[in-house]
Amino acid sequence: MGSENSAGPARPFPADRRILITGASSGIGAATARAAAAAGYRVALLARRRDALERLAAELPAPAAPGLARRAATDNRNGPGPSGHLILEADVGDEQTLAQAFDMLEESFGGLDLLVNNAGIGYRARIEELDAPHARRVLDTNVIGPLLVARAGLPLLRRGQLPVLVNVSSVLGRRGVPGQAVYGASKAALSSIGEALRLEWAPDGIAVCNLEPALTATGFFEAQANPAGLPHPDFAASDSADAVARIILQLDACPRPETSLRRKWRLLAALGLFAPRLADRLLAKNLGGAWRAPAR
Ligand SMILES: NC(=O)c1ccc[n+]([C@@H]2O[C@H](COP(=O)([O-])OP(=O)(O)OC[C@H]3O[C@@H](n4cnc5c(N)ncnc54)[C@H](OP(=O)(O)O)[C@@H]3O)[C@@H](O)[C@H]2O)c1
Repeated sequence: MGSENSAGPARPFPADRRILITGASSGIGAATARAAAAAGYRVALLARRRDALERLAAELPAPAAPGLARRAATDNRNGPGPSGHLILEADVGDEQTLAQAFDMLEESFGGLDLLVNNAGIGYRARIEELDAPHARRVLDTNVIGPLLVARAGLPLLRRGQLPVLVNVSSVLGRRGVPGQAVYGASKAALSSIGEALRLEWAPDGIAVCNLEPALTATGFFEAQANPAGLPHPDFAASDSADAVARIILQLDACPRPETSLRRKWRLLAALGLFAPRLADRLLAKNLGGAWRAPAR
């Protein structure tokens, strides 16, 4: 795979680590759930599509540790699934469904050892195609959502063992690209939030990791709005969701503040600060198509 800055070998953890994954119904989140359950974690799966979460929960091996609450769900959204992992139907941008999900999480898990802020949506649109309500939805999901999840997760992480937060940002969070201004801005905000939380949460011993995946082969591109039909990227050099999931679990065992899955994007970001014209030229050349570097 294309990881150029992975987190190193994982330390063995006790088998009963508790993980919450937002955006667990597909892609990187579902792959992380499979990898975590295979490693013995107790998994809480959060997303809006309950049917997809139920299908996933049914295929996961049962948690290694006993003690997951088996009581019936108090509402029809949340509760232990057939394999004993937790299904939490919620929208990360909606405080009410999120509060219900975290009530169930607290009751079932008591605390949290790993929180993966992964839920996110893309938006492929040039500024002239921008739809303001949709732009707000992207920012609600990718920025406000992770903030609300972090706020709700903090008391549980404080009760966790060697607690870790992983924010799934993007290489585009460190360098804006044409046609994805809103998405890139949302991921830049998420990376900034991670930097802030690293220091805010240091007294609590909670490690905060920014993970910046590059192109990953998931349903992300089909799911995103693309009003002008801008071309999808070439998936030839993409990473698999399983490969990103492995890095998320490595970060749990061995937290690193910043992990970018493409060093060239980090270099481009740094270059953009000191030689922005050169960075623009390199990016336009790399993207190809109709994109041009500015003439002045
Ligand atoms: N694929 C890539 O190339 C790539 C590259 C860099 C970073 N990333 C980031 O990786 C993360 C996962 O993306 P993916 O590639 O795995 O795409 P994906 O397969 O489309 O998964 C996105 C997940 O987010 C959930 N989600 C979306 N809106 C939500 C909301 N309002 N509340 C709760 N859950 C929500 C979706 O579930 P429901 O629809 O069921 O709610 C789904 O489970 C995203 O943050 C994305 O920005 C992806």
